[in-house]
Amino acid sequence: MLIDKIKEIKAEIEALKAQSAEDAEALRIKYLSRKGLVTSLFDDFKAVPAEMKKELGQKLNELKNLAQDKIAELKASANSSSQSQQNDIDVTRQATNVPMGSRHPISIVKDEIIDIFARMGFTVAEGPEVEDDWHVFTALNFPPEHPARDMQDTFFINTNPDILLRTHTSSVQVRVMEKRQPPIRSVFPGRVFRNEAISARAHCIFHQVEGLYIAKDVSFADLKQALTFFAKEMFGSNVQVRLRPSYFPFTEPSAEMDVSCTLCGGKGCAVCKGSGWLEILGCGMVDPNVLKNNNIDPNVYSGFAFGMGVERIAMLRFGVDDIRLFFENDVRFLRQFQSAD
Ligand code: DAH
Repeated sequence: MLIDKIKEIKAEIEALKAQSAEDAEALRIKYLSRKGLVTSLFDDFKAVPAEMKKELGQKLNELKNLAQDKIAELKASANSSSQSQQNDIDVTRQATNVPMGSRHPISIVKDEIIDIFARMGFTVAEGPEVEDDWHVFTALNFPPEHPARDMQDTFFINTNPDILLRTHTSSVQVRVMEKRQPPIRSVFPGRVFRNEAISARAHCIFHQVEGLYIAKDVSFADLKQALTFFAKEMFGSNVQVRLRPSYFPFTEPSAEMDVSCTLCGGKGCAVCKGSGWLEILGCGMVDPNVLKNNNIDPNVYSGFAFGMGVERIAMLRFGVDDIRLFFENDVRFLRQFQSAD
């Protein structure tokens, strides 16, 4: 009899309990979905004799409302109890210590270099590691077959010798000049690749920061001023600097910059090989040919450029005597470096 089923299910519903919102939802499906226990009573209702329809219809509707209210109530209380569980979290409890990592010394020094030049108004740009001959050599005034190309042992791609791994970040100068007219005042950090035997002094992968300043009336005095400021910020205000004439195809005149030995202060020791000086970067006035190659008029604009090895600066800054340590990722080595911030 329908009336008995209604009573039975009513008792069941009144006793329902749910631990969680998921339990309450399962009950909704059990009783109120299209094939649910309450819903299916409405099918039975069709067979009820006409004189009983009014009374049973009412009871059935009451049952449905009861089920809806009960399940809504179970859902609400399940949700609020899960919230109160969250509120029960003891925020004063002693946390387990998570060991802090440290920044890689190369990242620390690279960011310091960028930061010092940023204070002189230099922005930062990057370029691709896989480059072509034009950006690494030709646009930078390396003539074809010129021995200067051998200064940097290049990794070429076998199937296409026009494609290579950049040997210096000077290639980013070209990428920036071809996109923009002066004034340009930027530094270009990045990884470079050279086909060199790995030793305590050299690695086949290392990092450089290149710099370029092009505007009207830029002189060698500006170069000296900017790079002296850099050296004093990086190695301390007592450091001495000197520029030695040098050669790079893309600068004329070219120079190399030395700082007084960071270890012996210039007296002469094993690190500076008795000379009292350490080389830290190459630099020079941008060769007019380089400007022309990039559609910048050398009669209007002039500029200076410089490039330095990040590993070299880091070795001098931190007294590291083997470049390979930077690539081994031995945590006992890496843990010793703290950035200034
Ligand atoms: N590209 C040179 C190198 O890798 C470094 C360098 C020297 C960059 C002189 C310059 C520069 O911009 O003017 O050894």
